This record gives sequence, C-alpha cells and structure tokens, in this order.
Amino acid sequence: MESPIRKKMLQAFSESDGEFVSGQALADFLGCTRTAVWKHIEELRREGFELEAVRRKGYRILHAPDKVTENEIRYGLNTKNLGQTIYYQESIDSTQKKAHQLAYDNCPEGTLVIAEEQTSGRGRMTRSWHSPKYSGIWMSIILRPNLPPQQAPQFTLLAAVAVVQALEEVCGLNPEIKWPNDILINGKKVTGILTELQAESDKINSIIIGIGMNVNSKQEDFPEELQKIATSVAIEKGKIVSRSSIIQKILEKLELYYHLYMEKGFGPIKLLWEGYAISIGREIIARTITGTIEGKAIGITNDGVLKIEDSSGRIHEIYSADIEI
Ligand code: BTN
Repeated sequence: MESPIRKKMLQAFSESDGEFVSGQALADFLGCTRTAVWKHIEELRREGFELEAVRRKGYRILHAPDKVTENEIRYGLNTKNLGQTIYYQESIDSTQKKAHQLAYDNCPEGTLVIAEEQTSGRGRMTRSWHSPKYSGIWMSIILRPNLPPQQAPQFTLLAAVAVVQALEEVCGLNPEIKWPNDILINGKKVTGILTELQAESDKINSIIIGIGMNVNSKQEDFPEELQKIATSVAIEKGKIVSRSSIIQKILEKLELYYHLYMEKGFGPIKLLWEGYAISIGREIIARTITGTIEGKAIGITNDGVLKIEDSSGRIHEIYSADIEI
C-alpha cells in the first residue's frame, strides 16, 4: 500500500500538469520539511520516475514509469465501484488466489487485485499463465451479484466484451473472441479470462474475474511453446502502450455491462458478444475433459453455453472446452 504522503505528492505533480512545483510548495502541501520532500523525491527516482530539479524553480516529473500501482490506476479512473479498492503487490504468486482470500474475508465489491508479476499465474483447465514483470496486465476483480450460480458463465462472456471494447477504444485494435473467453488479434491470443466462483448451492457469494493480457511483450519474450499462438498489444500496434489506461477502460466497461446485465439480463450482452465471436457458424473441434466433439458451432444458449451440431445433426451443449477452429 502506498504511503499517504506519496499519494499527495503525486497528486501535486499531476495537478501542476508538467510545470515545476517548488520544494517549499510541496513541503507546505504535504505538511513536512523540505528535507523530507527531498527524501520522497529520491524515492520516486528509485522507483523509475524521471524528475528534473532546478534551483529556485523546484521539481517536475519528466517521465512516470509505466507501473500499475494504486496511484497510476486511480488517477483518471471513471468508475463508482470497480477498482475503487485496490490491492497491489509488485510480485505475487497469483492475483486470482489473493482475490479468493479477499473475497472470503468480505472485501468490498469491485475490489481489484493487481500485480506487476505473477510467479504462479493460473490459466483455465489447470494450466499455468506466463506473467512476467511489467509487460502485462495481471489482475482479478471481485463481484458479488445476487444471482444463482448457474448464471456465472455469463460473466465470462460479459468480461470478454468489456476487454474487447477497451482494446478497441484505447488502442484502436480489432480483437475477436474465441468461445468462451480467449481474446485474439490476427488469430493469436492476447488475453485470457478466468472466471471463478465462491457460491452456495443456490446463491453466488463472489465471482472472481481474472484477466491476463500481454501488453508490452515482444515476440521473443514469449516462451517457445507460446511464440506461434500468443501476441501482445505492442506487437499488434507496433508501439508500447500504457497499461493503466487499458486497465481503467476495462474497469469502466465491466462496470457499465455489469449494471446493464443486472437491469436487463443477459440478452444485450449476448448480442454484443456474438458481434465479436469468431467461432460461431464455423466447423470447430471442442476438446472437453470427457472427450472431443467435432461439428459446427451454431450459437450460444441464453446461459452462455456453446452449442455444437455434429454431422449426425445432434446438438451438444459445451460448458467448458478448448476450441480449435
Ligand atoms: C486462460 O487460460 O486463458 C485464462 C488466463 C487467466 C490469467 C489471469 S492473470 C490474472 C489472474 N490471476 C491468475 O493467476 N490467473 C488470472
């Protein structure tokens, strides 16, 4: 957690809009001595901030590191609940695991768990998730909708729509969704979503939406087995992108569609999702834990379940699988 004095100092610099802030003004604003100001400035430098210091003028920030700490995310975040409580750790085993603990301990709805790196990131179907330092978004969000557990898979699709729209609006990219929740750009995976539940038999206690996005990784940064199937926002865009702007937009879209869902049900979300889906109408292979089904993906049910028609005309409903197109 960030110290309150650090928070105020960054606030003073944000408000100065790139202009110098004098040491005395900072000391007055923070209620500390000029020596203490200097110590905090040195600490910011150690964290990767590039600061200019000029005699009689003061300090200004020339370049802020692209970090995803509480400050970077909060500054400019336009939500009521989502991301208003932030749990940040530079390095963590898994944000998903931490989010489960916090949800169990009754953290506020909308709590965001985020880290610069995960040492044991988890993917779907008990796979691991490659989450190296500073190059991606590794985050989990806790929601507490008052709904029966059967409706939880719809949240996976809702989250996928939020991520796609954030990438469209912030980065000008055109991602697609491969059921249930892989986000692809030019056929390669840029984001994975893992939706997990804490529930009783008739009621959801918490939904934990884990989002892993490759943002600033270069192709050679991926392990060999991922080189052909994974991509990043920077690879597709041809330049480095600010992770905090993408995070803010995802949170805003998630909040928007969460409210829409609670008001109007899954119908409007389903329509949006279908507009981005690449698997529907195509011949696919679905590998589930109980076997493989080949056929045409004919749509999703109102619960977000995938329907496949095999060559004998039989319709299969798939709850969880790996899809090959
Ligand atoms: C997938 O297999 O496609 C889903 C990947 C989900 C990865 C994210 S990264 C943040 C959160 N924490 C985890 O350990 N996993 C999810």
